[in-house]
Amino acid sequence: MLPLQLAKLGKLQCIHPSFIFVFMLCIMTSRTQLTESALKLMTKYPLIDGHNDLALQLRILQNNRLRLVDLHSISNVATDINRLRAGHVGGQVFAAYVMCTAQDKDAVRLTLEQIDVIRRMCSEYPEFELVTSAEALRTSEKIACLISIEGGHAIDSSLAALRMFYQLGVRSMALTHTCNTPWAESSSKLYQFYSRENNSLTDFGEAVVAEMNRLGMMIDLSHSSWDTAKAVLEISRAPVIFSHSSAFAVCGHERNVPDELLRVLKENKGLVMVNLHSGFVACGGKGNISIAADHFDHIKNVTGAESIGIGADFDGASKFPYGLEDVSKYPALIQELVHRNWTEEELAGLLRLNFLRVFQQVEQVRDELVEALPGKKRSRSWRQQMSVDWF
Ligand SMILES: *[C@@H]1O[C@H](CO)[C@@H](O)[C@H](O)[C@H]1NC(C)=O
Ligand SMILES: *[C@@H]1O[C@H](CO)[C@@H](O)[C@H](O)[C@H]1NC(C)=O
Ligand SMILES: *[C@@H]1O[C@H](CO)[C@@H](O)[C@H](O)[C@H]1NC(C)=O
Ligand SMILES: *[C@@H]1O[C@H](CO)[C@@H](O)[C@H](O)[C@H]1NC(C)=O
Ligand SMILES: [Zn+2]
Repeated sequence: MLPLQLAKLGKLQCIHPSFIFVFMLCIMTSRTQLTESALKLMTKYPLIDGHNDLALQLRILQNNRLRLVDLHSISNVATDINRLRAGHVGGQVFAAYVMCTAQDKDAVRLTLEQIDVIRRMCSEYPEFELVTSAEALRTSEKIACLISIEGGHAIDSSLAALRMFYQLGVRSMALTHTCNTPWAESSSKLYQFYSRENNSLTDFGEAVVAEMNRLGMMIDLSHSSWDTAKAVLEISRAPVIFSHSSAFAVCGHERNVPDELLRVLKENKGLVMVNLHSGFVACGGKGNISIAADHFDHIKNVTGAESIGIGADFDGASKFPYGLEDVSKYPALIQELVHRNWTEEELAGLLRLNFLRVFQQVEQVRDELVEALPGKKRSRSWRQQMSVDWF
């Protein structure tokens, strides 16, 4: 508790000053102490961030030719090793994302290429370490890299492809991006294909959820429609995550999570990792650290602090609030939450312990299902007694 006590001491001293000069000095001292307490906390509990699109930028800028960039310092993106270090990032989930226009075409190959570039970047630079288990993530002293797939179109409706992605180190998958898949629904209405009514998660969609539970792959509901999210929360045996979504009650964007779902997520012991993109945080304006912190306060009110994380979406989105422009800026946000009286325990959870707990529980469900066969599930619908095989 030391850093927080220090911060409060800093505020108390400001009650007494009799001169403006002393008063100003006092505010500055108090702010410095807040900064110090945030940095101390983050040294003790390095951040695990739920969503980053550097791999997409490597595709766009260099067609994945890693030799053409120095990952220590890249000027035209929001993520590089120097700034991850400055931001006290100890773990980063990197998204293997391919566009919806690749669905039913070359999505699987393109996803393989994005996984490949993340694996290369995390093995060629000694500052990074690729991890595939909660224990390796917990104990890593480098910037631990986790691979997640963003968008179920990547598996081309094949559980075999899903299993092979797991073998390549993928430990979470968002069920959709901005397009529906044949088996799950997106929050976005950008694309017309596979749209449907009243069937937000098909029988095959349920099989994907069951297979992810069996494999020990985290289910990511960011980008899914609320109906799909609800359907998944009803059947998933493991906690789920929203890897980069904010609070709908604070900013009414379809990508954010409404209170109703937050309450179900709390029951599920899952996690919402708050997205810092201006469009989801400030709803139109650019926003500032204060409005971003409002999302954390709101979610804490609804779910408790144990269901919150950060999934900033750097390099996926382009517009961020003043003071939160890149991966070096996380301490400013933590400082604001210290200022808002978040406790050390709450902030430790927010920074990394909540994510580690969810990852461990996902692995525990995998271990419980060790006898289960691939691609088999009990249908819960009218075929209740039938066991369905999917491949
Ligand atoms: C979907 O559900 C609504 C309301 O329950 C119902 O009116 C509608 O007919 C349903 N549509 C289909 C295609 O089943
Ligand atoms: C942040 O933005 C809000 C309006 O969106 C404003 O009221 C507030 O004063 C700003 N806070 C800071 C610290 O700039
Ligand atoms: C959280 O709840 C408290 C007490 O119920 C209330 O005073 C506060 O305004 C709430 N904060 C947010 C951000 O909803
Ligand atoms: C934080 O706690 C202090 C002392 O308990 C109190 O004076 C202050 O108003 C609180 N700040 C917020 C933002 O809740
Ligand atoms: Zn996204």
